[in-house]
Amino acid sequence: MKHMKIRKAVLPVAGLGTRFLPATKASPKEMLPVVDKPLIQYAVEEAVQAGAEVLVFITSRTKRAISDHFDRAYELETELSLRGRKHELELVQGIVPEHVTCVYIRQAEALGLGHAVLCAEPVVGNEPFYVVLADDLIASDTQSPLLQMKAVYEQYGNSVVGVERVAREETSHYGIITPEPAGDRLYRIKHIVEKPKPKDAPSTLGVVGRYLLTPEIFETLHETRKGAGGEIQLTDAIQSLLDRQNVYACEYAGVRYDCGSKLGYLKATVEYGLKHTELGDSFRSYLERIGGELSQMNNK
Ligand code: G1P
Repeated sequence: MKHMKIRKAVLPVAGLGTRFLPATKASPKEMLPVVDKPLIQYAVEEAVQAGAEVLVFITSRTKRAISDHFDRAYELETELSLRGRKHELELVQGIVPEHVTCVYIRQAEALGLGHAVLCAEPVVGNEPFYVVLADDLIASDTQSPLLQMKAVYEQYGNSVVGVERVAREETSHYGIITPEPAGDRLYRIKHIVEKPKPKDAPSTLGVVGRYLLTPEIFETLHETRKGAGGEIQLTDAIQSLLDRQNVYACEYAGVRYDCGSKLGYLKATVEYGLKHTELGDSFRSYLERIGGELSQMNNK
């Protein structure tokens, strides 16, 4: 099947991050670190690894730290190089590869995820593109979710969303699909609805923060009116897209940490700490020790 190369990724980062206040009062939630890297950098690395060369950040006021993070830092770089700190210098300079361009677009009003994606239209144009929500940090032993979704796009030439099984009582936090089996962990979407109540949810397959969209989504986004929560929802635009073309759902292999919630964020910190090359072993010993202490306390 003929398909276009995916060269662009949209990273909506305009959200307020109210769930992490006061930490996010003056700094963006996307800059919260998991061990030693901010959430947004994990998202960027996944997009770049899946072929993105243009990163379109949809930002808002108070998000300057994000553009600074992906910019050069001359004073820091000069200082590190004068002190011979080669490793740290490489870390700082290697955040985005040279062939990658970052573009920043301000979303003046918080009108929803659909509106944020529509803000990227002038830069994305008539090409398929990724959307990555940095809140959803996904660890995979093999291929990243975006690469798994790209393989589906290369086969069918249609949009693909990342999905996973969620608990029924959690459906009101997700876009939920009505699936039609189309292959191994692959579905054709018959219907998609934003944040249904558990009793109304058509399935428990929830959309996570990974999308690969064909450019026709902009046409349906232009026509999308406010939906759930009074916001312009990407989910509603995908539902309209279904009238014109197939959309697939890929139940990717991988473990997702919902870093938009404190518990998910703490779990990610523990898991990534355990896997960290420098401190994994000592962190494991520490956890084993407190694990032992906790079970002793529970047995008393
Ligand atoms: C957004 C989407 C929702 C999706 C979720 C994944 O919701 O609107 O369909 O399931 O991201 O994280 P949000 O979490 O921004 O409210």
